Amino acid sequence: MTNVRDSFHSRIGFILAAAGSAIGLGNIWGFPTQAANNGGGAFLFVYLLVTLLLALPALYAEIYIGNQAQKNPVSALGDACSHFSEGIGRKAGIIGLCGAIMMLSFYTIVAGWMLAHTLSSMAELAGMTQASAWLANSSTERNILFTPIFIFLGAAIIHQGVNAGIERWSARLMPILLVMLIGLIIYILQQPGADKGLEVYLIPDFARVTDPELIISAMGQAFFSLSIGVGGMMVYGSYMQKDKDMGKLVLSITALDTGIAFLAGLLIIPALFVAEHAGLDVFQDNQLIGEGQLIFHILPALFDSMGTIGLIVSSGFFLLLSIAALTSTISSTEVPVAYMVEDKGFSRKKATWLVSIIVLCSSGLLIAFFDALFGAVIRVLTTILQPLSCLFYFIVVGWLWKRGNKLRDVSLQKDRKWLALWGNYLRYVCPVLLTVVFVNVAILN
Ligand code: PFF
Repeated sequence: MTNVRDSFHSRIGFILAAAGSAIGLGNIWGFPTQAANNGGGAFLFVYLLVTLLLALPALYAEIYIGNQAQKNPVSALGDACSHFSEGIGRKAGIIGLCGAIMMLSFYTIVAGWMLAHTLSSMAELAGMTQASAWLANSSTERNILFTPIFIFLGAAIIHQGVNAGIERWSARLMPILLVMLIGLIIYILQQPGADKGLEVYLIPDFARVTDPELIISAMGQAFFSLSIGVGGMMVYGSYMQKDKDMGKLVLSITALDTGIAFLAGLLIIPALFVAEHAGLDVFQDNQLIGEGQLIFHILPALFDSMGTIGLIVSSGFFLLLSIAALTSTISSTEVPVAYMVEDKGFSRKKATWLVSIIVLCSSGLLIAFFDALFGAVIRVLTTILQPLSCLFYFIVVGWLWKRGNKLRDVSLQKDRKWLALWGNYLRYVCPVLLTVVFVNVAILN
């Protein structure tokens, strides 16, 4: 087998691609929805805590495994566990790969909705009212049309390769997203009612921060948001030259992802109060009226009330969501693609199209049995598979990896105190902390 792997050409390229994977619908839709439902500031506070204590270390472990192995996630985990049992490592890699397909199967459907809403606003702007209404209303036909379009867009980028496709497109798309988000925030904060939203979002009600449901939602959200536990970050880590200073990279990715989630909250929560101020029914007993309401009813109603400008803002907003979703699907798709190319000898092109067909079939299944499968797949992925994978990563880097693995040996180093502390934190504290939260999730479910 040839040993020339495509790679990111710069550290900033890697950071943008990984941040592109992390920043997605989870940040712009998931985070504000959860924050709005869980007391605003209290959720933000717990989310930041969980991100620092658990999600960031898990991201570090995942990228570290890929970076050290310089292989796709199945082989990387196989290598990392070879001292103990290569088979178990590879099986865990395959489970992660299935998680990536599961993620893609529902994510591409939701991303298709975003694309449809972008076009709906544009159609209305062009005076095509009927088309606009069809695009804005959820229907099986719309799913059947837009899910494949979205899968195709992702495949078109991926098959160009790591540098020419993923790195270049992430570097183009991510800054556009940031600019659009900031523009929308500036607009919303000038509207009447926005200040009440700011208060709810930024001043935590500390009585709520110990609520177990809130802690669990915050953890699931943090793991999903940082894209950990399905191998996407591992495969990106493997496309970067072996790095001695990974701490900084992981901190940058976490800061970008958390920063965008924070900004999305700064847009959406005040927007909800602007909508309420304008007379729309937004909350009932401190809960949002229906989760989908937020993006697909309340915000569009708000945009509508702005007249023509609102249609432009609305197209911009949904375009922003579509772009964020696109860069997120790319990393998940790369997991099976890299495995098929490196371990099964497929060409990159063939692997990309084959994976796209598999995703098309699995999202087709979800569309056909939407009520039974859609929510269940999301729950299994975010509350079981992702936390369990992260637990496995902690055990791999802390315990199973052969000697010579810096993280395993690092706890024995006496001269570099910080590194030793970090190694011990990953080895001892993270697995226990994660297990405690996971058991609570199981009990609460
Ligand atoms: N982090 C993405 C989001 O917040 O929307 C979702 C995601 C992408 C999850 C890639 C998992 C993954 F591998």
